[in-house]
Amino acid sequence: MTDFKYDVLIVGSGAAGLTAALKLSPDLRVALLSKSTLSQGATYLAQGGIAGVLNEQDSIDSHVQDTLIAGDGLCDEEAVRFTVSNSQNCIQWLIDQGVPFTREENEDGIWGYHLTREGGHSQRRIIHAADETGKAVSNTLTDLVKAQPNIDIFENHLAVDLVIENKPERRTIGAYILDLDKSRVDLFLAKSTILATGGASKAYLYSSNPQGSSGDGIAIAWRAGCRIANMEFNQFHPTILFHPLAHSFLITEAIRGEGGKLLRPDGSRFMDEYDPRGELAPRDVVARAIDHEMKRLGSDFVYLDISHKPPEFIEQHFPNIKARCLELGIDITQQPIPVVPSAHYTCGGIMIDSAGRTDLTGLYAIGESSFTGLHGANRMASNSLLECLVYAQSASEDILKKISSIPEPVFEFEWDESRVTISDEDVVVSHNWEELRRLMWDYVGIVRSDKQLKRAEKRIALIRQEVAEHYGRYKISGDLLELRNLIVVSELIIQSALQRKESRGLHYTLDYPDTLKKAENTILTPATTFR
Ligand code: FAD
Ligand code: SIN
Repeated sequence: MTDFKYDVLIVGSGAAGLTAALKLSPDLRVALLSKSTLSQGATYLAQGGIAGVLNEQDSIDSHVQDTLIAGDGLCDEEAVRFTVSNSQNCIQWLIDQGVPFTREENEDGIWGYHLTREGGHSQRRIIHAADETGKAVSNTLTDLVKAQPNIDIFENHLAVDLVIENKPERRTIGAYILDLDKSRVDLFLAKSTILATGGASKAYLYSSNPQGSSGDGIAIAWRAGCRIANMEFNQFHPTILFHPLAHSFLITEAIRGEGGKLLRPDGSRFMDEYDPRGELAPRDVVARAIDHEMKRLGSDFVYLDISHKPPEFIEQHFPNIKARCLELGIDITQQPIPVVPSAHYTCGGIMIDSAGRTDLTGLYAIGESSFTGLHGANRMASNSLLECLVYAQSASEDILKKISSIPEPVFEFEWDESRVTISDEDVVVSHNWEELRRLMWDYVGIVRSDKQLKRAEKRIALIRQEVAEHYGRYKISGDLLELRNLIVVSELIIQSALQRKESRGLHYTLDYPDTLKKAENTILTPATTFR
C-alpha cells in the first residue's frame, strides 16, 4: 500500500519539470519532486537566454540551419525543425506566465524584447532576462506551481529507481523515492512518470553545473531498460570564471555575443587564428582552441575582455556577472576576466520521440536528461531551455490524450532494508566521488585517446565494484545514490566515446582525428552493453 498515488509523477523541478506540471490539466493529480529545493537545478543558473525565432529578420530555416551546422552533421533535422517551429509559441507562453524578459527601446522609439547573440547563431535571436534568465524563469514558474491545488510539491525527495509492472505488459507505474529528511523510502505510484532530472556534467571535476547534475534520470532509465544515446558528446563551456573562491561561476557566452574578445595572458587575440567566426564559433571549437592555447602556453587560464564597452552597457546587460566579479576584486568594466573551459551540458541522454516517450510504456523523459536528436554532436547556445519547453509541452499533450484510458496502478510495497545497517564508512563515498570526477576530467575530457579512455574504464570498474558492495551492505543515502548514478553515466560516456571511431563536434580523439562521411548516433542498449 502507498499514500502516494498520482496521475502523473514528475521527477525534477527545472524548466522541463515545472513547464510539464503547469501544462497538465488542473483535473489531474500531479506530484512534482526535487531532490533539493525547487530552484536547485541548472535552470536557475542559466544566464544567456532562450533561442527562438522572434522577429521578422529571422526565420525558422535560419535557426534550423545554424543548429545543424553547430551539431556538426549529427542533428536529427526533423527534431530540430519541430523544436524551432515551436519556439515562438513556447516563449510566448513564458511571457504570458509573467517571465520578466529584458525590454529595450529601438532607434525608432519602439519598445520590444532585447535579443542577444551567442556562438553559432547567425542572428540576434536570444531572449533573456539580463544575465539571470534562468532565475527569472524558475521564480515565475515556481510561484505558479505553488499556487496550483492539483500539484503536490515534494522537496528533498530523491528518486531511486522506477517501479515496473510486468503484466499484462511491461510499463512504468511510478518510482521508489527516498525522503531525504526522514531517511525513508516511499513508493510513489502514477499512471505516467516523467523524468526531468537534468544533465550529468558533475561526472567531471570542473563543471558549471549545480551539485545535483549527477545524471540520475539517465542512470535510472538505463537500469530500467531504456536506450541511451550520444553520451560521448559532453559539452565544455569555454568561459567559466577562473578564481580560487569562485568554483563553477559561468561567464555567459552573451558577453562574446556583445563583442567580448578572448585573449592570451599577454593580451593578444587568438580565436581568429582558429575559426573565421572568431569568438562566436560554436562552443566545441572555442573550448578546444582555449584548451590548446592553455596547454601550449602552460597557462592556467585565458582572458575574456568586454572592458572596451561603456560601463553603463555592461551594467545594463550583465549586472549579475559584474557584481559577482567585483566581489572577487575583478572590475569587468576596466579589466579582462580570467576564464577556463568546464563541463557544462550533456548532449546525449534517454532516447525519446517527439512526444517525450521513452522505450518504456508510461515513462517520459524531457529536458537535459533526454536525447531528442536536436543537438547532434554539439549543442548550440540557448537551445536547451527551448528544448525543455517544447518537449514538456509535447509530453504533457501526449499524457492528456491517453490518461483517461490508463488503469490505476496497483503494487505491493517491497523495499527491504532488513539486511542493511547505517554506514560507518562514508569515506568510501566521498573518496570515490572525488576519484571518479578527477579521472573523468583527466582521461575523458576535451581531447581524448583510446588509451586514456581504456585507463578510465578500468579504474571505474573498480570504483563500481566497491560502491556496489557498499550499496548492498548499508542504508542508502543521497550521496551514495548520486555516486552510483554518476558511475553509470561515466561508464556510458566512456563506452560511447570508445565506440565512435572519428572526431566530430564535442568528441575529439587523437586516434581518429578525421570526421567520417556518414554521421551516426551512438546508441547503447542495456542488455547488450557491458556484458
Ligand atoms: P534542471 O534545471 O537541471 O533540473 C533538474 C531537476 O531534477 C532539479 O529539480 C533536481 O533537483 C531534480 N532531480 C535530479 N535528480 C533527481 C532525483 N534523483 N530525484 C528527484 N529529483 C531529481 N541553457 C540555455 O538554453 N540557455 C542558457 O542561458 C543556459 N545557461 C546555463 C548556465 C549554466 C550555469 C548552466 C549550468 C546551464 C545553462 N544552460 C543554459 C543549460 C540549461 O540551463 C539546462 O540544460 C536546463 O536548465 C536543464 O533543465 P532541466 O529542467 O532539464 O533540468
Ligand atoms: C551562457 O549563457 O553562456 C550559457 C548558454 C547556454 O548554455 O546555452
